[in-house]
Amino acid sequence: MTFTLRSAGEKIEVVDKPAELFTTPPNLGNYEAACREFSWEQARREIDWFDEDHLNAAYNAVDRHAVGWRKNKVALYWEGERGEVEKYTFRELSRLSNQLANALADIGIKKGDRVFIFLPRLPELYIAFLAILKLGAVAGTLFAAFGPEALKDRLGDSDARAVVTIPGYYERIESVRGDLPALKDVILVDTRGTDFRPKAGEHLYSKMMAEADHHFAPAVMAAEDYAFMLYTSGTTGKSKGVVHAHEAIIQEHLSAKWILDLKDDDIYWCTADPGWVTGIAYGILGTWSNGATSVIYEGRFNPREWYRIVEKYDVSVWYTAPTAIRMLMKAGPKAAADFDLSCLRHLASVGEPLNPEAIRWGLDVFGLPFHDTWWQTETGSILIANYPSIPVKLGSMGRPFPGVTASIVDDDGNEMPPGTPGHLAIKPGWPAMFRTVWHNEAKYEEYFNNDWYITGDRAYMDSEGYFWFIGRGDDVIKTAGERVGPFEVESALVDHAAVAEAGVIGKPDMMRGEIIKAFVVLATDQESSPELSEEIRVFVKKRLAGHAYPREIEFVDVLPKTQSGKIMRRVLKARELGLPVGDLSTLEAT
Ligand code: WT7
Repeated sequence: MTFTLRSAGEKIEVVDKPAELFTTPPNLGNYEAACREFSWEQARREIDWFDEDHLNAAYNAVDRHAVGWRKNKVALYWEGERGEVEKYTFRELSRLSNQLANALADIGIKKGDRVFIFLPRLPELYIAFLAILKLGAVAGTLFAAFGPEALKDRLGDSDARAVVTIPGYYERIESVRGDLPALKDVILVDTRGTDFRPKAGEHLYSKMMAEADHHFAPAVMAAEDYAFMLYTSGTTGKSKGVVHAHEAIIQEHLSAKWILDLKDDDIYWCTADPGWVTGIAYGILGTWSNGATSVIYEGRFNPREWYRIVEKYDVSVWYTAPTAIRMLMKAGPKAAADFDLSCLRHLASVGEPLNPEAIRWGLDVFGLPFHDTWWQTETGSILIANYPSIPVKLGSMGRPFPGVTASIVDDDGNEMPPGTPGHLAIKPGWPAMFRTVWHNEAKYEEYFNNDWYITGDRAYMDSEGYFWFIGRGDDVIKTAGERVGPFEVESALVDHAAVAEAGVIGKPDMMRGEIIKAFVVLATDQESSPELSEEIRVFVKKRLAGHAYPREIEFVDVLPKTQSGKIMRRVLKARELGLPVGDLSTLEAT
């Protein structure tokens, strides 16, 4: 199948998708009709309920397929970093997560306890996530790149009761364990061999599993009960714990069906790590709930390896991110031409603006357009998307999911007409919406204005109801799709003895969208040098996270500040970009 591009107006190009090009009809055949006829009540019926108001998201993702005709269907093809391969059927995943749920219950983990997962993309990560939800506990995920400081903040703020990790990562938690009084149990995944000797409060995964029964009745959860949480960054303060309810699965299921267009004979690959909400909603819950066979690749990004995975597993539906697509583009057409990628039939992308060149390149190389999708950690589910059955306008994020009301509002939360730039806002009440910010209801309330959820993004809507991204409305940085709060980076910087003050911004970058740039004022006795710059970079990388360090450091004598002493990142950014700095009336006289 080959889709073509047509020009529609001065700057707009459109990919039309005539029905005859679909080998199987899209799951969502008529977007307009779906919007008209939509009811959440009907959407709820896609999911299995214990009674009117009770369900378990993990039961829906896996267990319900483990008893029906999909029980011997492969749910997970895993390929490890060193080329190891494993596969798990729905029945096997169901039993393994039952065993772990029993084992976690045995060490006293109860409904509502926070259990965090700090693992590479091993099958055990997925088993643990399911087990925690089945038990009724709240699963938290952590990026493998996190350093001790980032771990302490997250495990401390959530009062995590237990962590599932591997011996090789445990050191980073151990070094801050004294500051984590609530952390009682550490489960060490040793499935692929270790000589780790557990002390009190440490448990070897394989031993726990060997002793555990594979029957487990999943906890009967109210729709509103908490299922999982993720820490994400805002403009100010430390990262915040965004909490999702079990009923998020309703929308994650339906969006995976309608937007990712999963069919039973598809092989699906979501390249996102579950440390990111994409890896949960469309790497575990919504996609398995559709009975999809998923590929999990533990290895890092590498163009040839990625193409090899697509070819080897016959991947047909692929959900990835713009930075990865740009890196594939950079690797050149030859890299792609060496592989048979004709198995692909549907491509989607998320996380940052998807540039038109990336879509044109996809059409060239795969004969398929990437479908941009927009959402956030807080929204729990894709809310704006390009659907298989409607034309893609290059550069647009697409149209709201049926049942979701999106709009553009002004500073007071009043709706604005098409074509007007403003705050992208969503009418609250969609099932996958976050339910709280952990222990910080005030932060949660800050998101809402005049009965709109304010996303923090600026956008406009065109006359046909397509949404177009303009940029963040705040100082949040998006680097290679990862969301980084400038405050966290600034805090880590000033922890370095040589740094007196620091201001951090996102600097536009061709490949990564943005890179983190720090402006640093050194302590009086310090001399700037390339060595010191490198030392500071490594310091932040180790403490915070592998992705959240400043790629660029500029030493400056003073930072622009308000009279109350707040660093004006807006001014730093304008100077960096050579733009007018705007209203400086609150700038401190220096
Ligand atoms: C922010 C949310 C939920 C997975 C994505 C990461 C940016 C997301 C797009 C898109 C332009 C996008 C926004 C948003 N973003 N998708 N299609 N086009 N920007 O979730 O880490 O919570 O980040 O990512 O700025 O607010 P997240």
